[in-house]
Amino acid sequence: MQGAIDAGHQVEKIFLRDKVIHPCIGCDVCSSQKKPCPQNDDAAEVIRKMLEAEVIVMGTPVYFYSMSAQMKTLIDRCCGPYTEMKNKEFYFIATAAEDDEKIMDRIVTSFSGFLDCLENPAVRGTVFCGGVWHAGEIKGNAALQKAYEMGKNIK
Ligand SMILES: Cc1cc2nc3c(=O)[nH]c(=O)nc-3n(C[C@H](O)[C@H](O)[C@H](O)COP(=O)(O)O)c2cc1C
Repeated sequence: MQGAIDAGHQVEKIFLRDKVIHPCIGCDVCSSQKKPCPQNDDAAEVIRKMLEAEVIVMGTPVYFYSMSAQMKTLIDRCCGPYTEMKNKEFYFIATAAEDDEKIMDRIVTSFSGFLDCLENPAVRGTVFCGGVWHAGEIKGNAALQKAYEMGKNIK
């Protein structure tokens, strides 16, 4: 985020843990009836910001070798609006306790399921930070510099 700011971009960070986003219940209101999701929570606001953004960075802790439930829940709530999510540039960031870069393949694969449904998405970069279990352990990790550079290089 700091790199993108230093490159002159307008950015906003959204913590999904601060949002109330209920799971998609497959009611078909959005997909068949083409109406807004009837659930009254924060999903519409977050998805609207995704639709407005040119670049979307999706960051998640690794939970049981996959993305967090919060992130997957947000993706599922894109059930209706995903057809409008066109020409977006994506970056993926993941942290994990285990220090094994291969974990990132699984994370990217699970995000790919979402991107495969979008029109003309582009994955511009990924950052994996392993070996960080407890809060604060990431301090000084080289992955932070990599993330900074990635942000700085956003065109
Ligand atoms: C429910 C849960 C499942 C986790 N599963 C894994 C895992 O499969 N592999 C791993 O390396 N770390 C796992 N972790 C550790 C987190 O990925 C790690 O602590 C991460 O740095 C947390 O990021 P955060 O501080 O941004 O929430 C798990 C943690 C929790 C709470």
